[in-house]
Amino acid sequence: TIVPVLLAGGAGTRLWPLSRKSFPKQFSPLISDESLFQASTRRVAGPSFAPPLVVTGADFRFIVTEQIAEEGLPSGDVLIEPSPRSTAPAVLAAALWLTRNDPDALMLVAPSDHAIPDTAAFIACVEAGRSAAEAGELVTFGIKPTRAETGYGYIEVSGQTDCLGPAPVKRFIEKPDAASAAKMLAAGTFLWNAGIFLFSARAIISAFEQHAPAMIAPVRASVEGAKADLDFHRLDASAWSDLPDISIDHAIMEKADNITTVPFTATWSDLGDWDAVAREMTQDDGGNALKGNVTAIDCQGSLLRSEDTGLEVVGLGLENALVVATRDAVLVADRSRAQDVKDAVAALRARE
Ligand code: GDD
Ligand code: MG
Repeated sequence: TIVPVLLAGGAGTRLWPLSRKSFPKQFSPLISDESLFQASTRRVAGPSFAPPLVVTGADFRFIVTEQIAEEGLPSGDVLIEPSPRSTAPAVLAAALWLTRNDPDALMLVAPSDHAIPDTAAFIACVEAGRSAAEAGELVTFGIKPTRAETGYGYIEVSGQTDCLGPAPVKRFIEKPDAASAAKMLAAGTFLWNAGIFLFSARAIISAFEQHAPAMIAPVRASVEGAKADLDFHRLDASAWSDLPDISIDHAIMEKADNITTVPFTATWSDLGDWDAVAREMTQDDGGNALKGNVTAIDCQGSLLRSEDTGLEVVGLGLENALVVATRDAVLVADRSRAQDVKDAVAALRARE
């Protein structure tokens, strides 16, 4: 079986004000009644998978167990990071944790901020990568790009990108600038990285030994010093603070030469910002996405959400606007600035 490793420790600042420090986006119902985290957990609840290993922050530990229990889904261990250090330390900690019982354990690293409506198609893609992962490859899932997105990783393959099976990866480029993204889109030999990975614990630990050796000792010390606390395992904090803040994409994927990509043919979207959320919601005749107590009059291409506030939100003559009202904060932005919401949050935090 495959052990799902659910990463649920991100801050999700681009979805402010719905996503907050103490309650990030992955735990909110964004496009349906269940949260993205619950949807991700449900997606890996089938017979191909063991109960998931969740890696998250201390502030979210009860949200995680409550949301899993609410759905009646199986839960595996929950690892608590002493502080967020992005995805590379989290993935390495999960690998070292699983290695204690089985160094050949296959891990499916899955973020909790994606919408993938067709679970059967998702599982078929994962299964298509299984034999490469068993052979020691780091398996990524490649999506046919449709725009020059700068928020994703790009995967270069040798031939055409409409190949049907697993293919070796020539290069991996994480979050390119706009000009490089446009070039890669035009070249036709690049896929988007879905952000989902399949590999054995052994293979990813050996990739860290090769490409990020300084991280091994502190993460190993944190795992070996982990303390049980109720249903959680708290990684030891003393060495963790030495770790860099770095994603698995930058630390490993951009450097490794044993990456395979499997075409990811299931419908996928990263709900990383309000523009993406608006695209995934049901649209009215004017292309507006509306949620809650809102009214749009003569609006076009706009997102209006009133998040359980009772606040009446009215848009009049808006074009490509983002309006998100919560109990204590309201975002009003141009839709083209969706990526910059994180800068607004940084500015607010600097003032705190
Ligand atoms: N436990 C833990 N700790 N989880 C984290 C942390 C952390 O410090 N930081 C982020 N995560 C979780 C997030 O909650 C999310 O579920 C997942 O890890 C991915 O992090 P993001 O911050 O959302 O990454 P990204 O969207 O910018 O980029 C990744 O995904 C893209 C596709 O969605 C990369 O893998 C890109 O290459 C990829 O294209
Ligand atoms: Mg993301």
